[in-house]
Amino acid sequence: HRLLKIGLFGFGCVGQGLYDILSREEALPFKVERICVKDPKKLRPLPTESFTYDFHQLLQDDSLDILVEAISDAEEAYVIVAEALRRGKKVVTANKKLVAFHLPELLALQQEFGGVLLYEAAVAGGIPIIRTVEEYFANDPLERVHGILNGSSNYILSQIFKLQKGYAEALKEAQDKGFAELDPWLDVAGADSRHKLCILTAHAFGRTIGPEEVAFFGIDHLSGQDCAYAKQNDAVIKMVASVHLTADGELVPVVLPSLVDASDDLFVVEQEFNGVVVQGTYAGPQLFKGRGAGGHPTGAAVLSDIVSISQGYSYGYKKLHKTTNAPALALDFEFE
Ligand code: HSE
Repeated sequence: HRLLKIGLFGFGCVGQGLYDILSREEALPFKVERICVKDPKKLRPLPTESFTYDFHQLLQDDSLDILVEAISDAEEAYVIVAEALRRGKKVVTANKKLVAFHLPELLALQQEFGGVLLYEAAVAGGIPIIRTVEEYFANDPLERVHGILNGSSNYILSQIFKLQKGYAEALKEAQDKGFAELDPWLDVAGADSRHKLCILTAHAFGRTIGPEEVAFFGIDHLSGQDCAYAKQNDAVIKMVASVHLTADGELVPVVLPSLVDASDDLFVVEQEFNGVVVQGTYAGPQLFKGRGAGGHPTGAAVLSDIVSISQGYSYGYKKLHKTTNAPALALDFEFE
């Protein structure tokens, strides 16, 4: 095996997770050759020679076989990934917001310039859900895909329901454990789940939808009364992202705090775990559960993309032909 050289953008939770996995798994034919980071003054766990601060340098380096984008800012990530695809590169990203907002353009760039983009880590972290809906369910028309796609909000709700903790304390813990986004509003308001649902929809149903088409409501609006009501009914509240096809072929994508009791597949998905129920016409519902956040699980998903891309794999997007104009549902909630 020739050693494949990786250029890595970003050295936060995901970048370090990937780096750590590759340094432990010495037999793998992949090597992180260069790492591009933003802030030269920030203290880092590797010698300064490992880093570069100019992203053009990595993009222009044709000795690199695969580029991995693992920075947090979605617009900066877009500039990097779009330019890499314009250069026909093989690219892996973990950036869900980037993919959710720009998928149609990213697809067009791949077609025009012959590059490839994979992003298994962007949805449900370590759960191989994109390839599952694409490949395993390739010929089983999906009726519905729903799940818990945000580890932080699930962690917070689990702490509230299982351990009677307060919302603020639970959120602080999710941040301290490194699950939450830099801006935790994305987690608790449902925006992050919304991004992931858009990506999942493209692969499950072959249609691209934008985040603005997904109705959403955050757990930051839940009250003590809502939680008491759930408990009285032997249920918990979970942040559920769901997309299903109506009989008329319309897609209905929503992200909503939902009552979940023991009869529900998602009941067992606790703490920072994610869970996705894929319902095929023939296979019936199947639950996939795993770690949706954290350096190692997300790094493992990035690694799986690196392996796939080195084997010439690219996504099929099933029957991706058209973009729906499915309007977001008008929700009739009372905000307090
Ligand atoms: N903030 C995200 C979460 C990280 O809590 O699920 C993984 O995408």
